[in-house]
Amino acid sequence: MESHTVVASSRKIISILFVFGCCVLLFEYKIIHKFGTVKIKGRKRVEPWQDRRETTGKQVTAFRLPNVLQNLTTKGTEETFADQHSTNYSYFDFPEHLNINVDSFLSQDYNLSRERWLTLMEARQQMRLEKINFFCQKYNIREKSVAEFVRRKPFRHALYANDQQKIVFGIVLKVASNHFKKVLKQFGGTKRLYMLPDEKCKHRLENFFKVLFVRHPLARILSAYRDKFVDHHIPHFVHIGRRIIGSERKGATPLEVKEAIDVSLPEFIKYTTKGPMTRSNAHWNLIWYHNHVCDLRYDFIGKLETIGDDFAYLVHKVSDGRLNASHYKLMKAYRGYHGDQEKLRTYYRNVSTALLKVWYDIYKRDFELFGYSMNILGSDLWPFQ
Ligand SMILES: *[C@@H]1O[C@H](CO)[C@@H](O)[C@H](O)[C@H]1NC(C)=O
Ligand SMILES: *[C@@H]1O[C@H](CO)[C@@H](O)[C@H](O)[C@H]1NC(C)=O
Ligand SMILES: *[C@@H]1O[C@H](CO)[C@@H](O)[C@H](O)[C@H]1NC(C)=O
Ligand SMILES: *[C@@H]1O[C@H](CO)[C@@H](O)[C@H](O)[C@H]1NC(C)=O
Ligand SMILES: *[C@@H]1O[C@H](CO)[C@@H](O)[C@H](O)[C@H]1NC(C)=O
Repeated sequence: MESHTVVASSRKIISILFVFGCCVLLFEYKIIHKFGTVKIKGRKRVEPWQDRRETTGKQVTAFRLPNVLQNLTTKGTEETFADQHSTNYSYFDFPEHLNINVDSFLSQDYNLSRERWLTLMEARQQMRLEKINFFCQKYNIREKSVAEFVRRKPFRHALYANDQQKIVFGIVLKVASNHFKKVLKQFGGTKRLYMLPDEKCKHRLENFFKVLFVRHPLARILSAYRDKFVDHHIPHFVHIGRRIIGSERKGATPLEVKEAIDVSLPEFIKYTTKGPMTRSNAHWNLIWYHNHVCDLRYDFIGKLETIGDDFAYLVHKVSDGRLNASHYKLMKAYRGYHGDQEKLRTYYRNVSTALLKVWYDIYKRDFELFGYSMNILGSDLWPFQ
């Protein structure tokens, strides 16, 4: 008789627990929908860099100017070039305009011989790599060993190898990623490091030439926005669009949330500032963090803004001058393309300075690491120049 009541009451307890569990799940689901972010068991999610002690940069205080630049001869137009740029190498590294010019603007603008062009391209690479060195030391970002890196399989997601040219590409979405995958095919085939056994992956990371192409963060995020929320409406991004409108638009009607086809740029930018989860998407994540710049120590940093020179030099470098960049479709694709400054200003004019500032504080490591600046927006839109 007594054991009967015990069984009955434990059944009751179990069903109460069950209902309680369901409520918790529903509540979390609602939270996820409302804020697009998940807080699991009260564990606070921190920004990727918050667990890192920032040093004052005492060990490294300035970038070294590559010797090759100090060594330029003083003849003809090259003199002008050397005068202008040996003292102003940020200009040399990245001119503050976004005109993508595949027709080697350096050799054209300055009528450089091929030898001089090669020297300058090497100097540009040295400077970009030096900047990365500086950055990783300044923020005291620990380097993982290759073995440790390989063990964490998700880390390899963005890495593609080509065995013929012995090259590993860190693919960044919204930075000509599909074109670079085609280039690897033209080189003779791609292998995703994600799919390879650990040993083969390790071998490639240790021995191959590692390449990363980047892009101005303002242009990259605008491109992600236009591609995913304006030009196309694929289900996954409509789903994200619902979250964005649900959380960022005051007084959104259920229909607006359901359709989610008119996400505005300010709403999208606001969403990306909400927490690490909202910007874990590979189309707008932080390059320095998600492409493991301090761990992998890429051998080559290219920029979409200088893709003509950079890609031509890359092809020259990996093939020892045997291959010619103009034979790759990538060069044709970007001929005549201008990701111009006016377009950026047109879009970012709609984003408040306060929101831009919040966004910049989160993305500024990508600016710093790759030598970009917000000044491109002009002092009316970015008064902190
Ligand atoms: C600079 O020029 C000198 C003399 O021509 C040469 O010996 C030296 O190797 C050059 N250095 C570099 C880094 O090109
Ligand atoms: C560096 O180059 C930029 C762009 O040409 C120019 O506006 C700036 O005055 C230069 N700075 C120095 C210190 O020469
Ligand atoms: C480039 O230099 C060559 C040889 O110095 C000269 O013949 C040619 O006219 C120059 N081209 C331009 C566009 O300045
Ligand atoms: C590459 O090919 C183009 C067109 O076929 C040619 O004009 C150019 O001189 C070549 N460059 C090199 C370095 O061979
Ligand atoms: C800027 O905002 C206005 C008003 O909301 C809108 O009509 C316009 O299309 C927006 N511009 C861009 C480039 O999104």
